[in-house]
Amino acid sequence: MILKPFKRESVIPLPVTFISTMSEGGIRNIAPYGCVMPVLRPLDLVCIATAKWRDTLDNIRATGEFVINMAGTDLIPAVIPSARFSPPEADEFELAGLEEKPSVVVKPPGIKGCYAWMECTLDKLFEEERYILIMGKVVHLEIDDAACRPDGSLDVETAQPLFMTGSNAAMHYCTVTDTGKSDSFGAMFPDRKDPLEKMYKE
Ligand SMILES: Cc1cc2nc3c(=O)[nH]c(=O)nc-3n(C[C@H](O)[C@H](O)[C@H](O)COP(=O)(O)O)c2cc1C
Repeated sequence: MILKPFKRESVIPLPVTFISTMSEGGIRNIAPYGCVMPVLRPLDLVCIATAKWRDTLDNIRATGEFVINMAGTDLIPAVIPSARFSPPEADEFELAGLEEKPSVVVKPPGIKGCYAWMECTLDKLFEEERYILIMGKVVHLEIDDAACRPDGSLDVETAQPLFMTGSNAAMHYCTVTDTGKSDSFGAMFPDRKDPLEKMYKE
C-alpha cells in the first residue's frame, strides 16, 4: 500500500511526551509533544519540532527552560485537556488535573506520575518558515526508581511508555513491549568495543 508522504505518523510510532514550561509571570503551561528526539549518543541534547504558535515556544523563548515529562499510558486522559487551545493566562496543570513534581535545576515544575523527567535549558532555536526546531540541553535527568532496571535500561513493563500512531482521523495510543533480545553497543564495532563505554560507568 502506498501512503501519502505526509502520513509519517502512520508508520513511525511517536512518544507522547508532555512539555511543561512557565511564563515569565509564573503561569504554568503543559502541552503534549510527539516530535521529540535525542540527538546522537552520548550527547545531552534533545531536539523538538514545534509549530510557531505555541505558548510552549513563547515560554521557552522567554525563560530558556522547560521539562520534558515522559508519560505512561495512565496519562492518556491528560492528552486532550493539555492539547486543546487555552489562553496563555490559563494554568494548564489545573486544566489537565495534573500535580507538580518540583524540578531540581530549572524553574518550571515537572509532572507528578510520569516515569521520567528531562529538565532542559534552551541550547538553540533553528527557525524555519514552517517549523522551528528547539534544541534543548538536558541539565537534569531523573527516572522513577521502579522504572529503571539494574543495567540502566527502561523497565517498559513498569513504565508503560505512552506512544501514538496516526490514522486518518485519530491518534491511536500504544505502548512498547520488551522482546527480551539485546545487542551490546560494542557489537557494531570491528573490535567489539564500544568507544563510549567509559561514559556509562558510574
Ligand atoms: C499527542 C500529541 C502530540 C503533539 N505533538 C506536537 C509536536 O510535536 N509539536 C507541536 O508543535 N505540537 C504538537 N502537538 C500539538 C500541541 O500539543 C497543541 O497545539 C497544544 O495546544 C500546544 O499548547 P501550548 O500553546 O500551550 O504550547 C501535539 C498534540 C498531541 C495531542
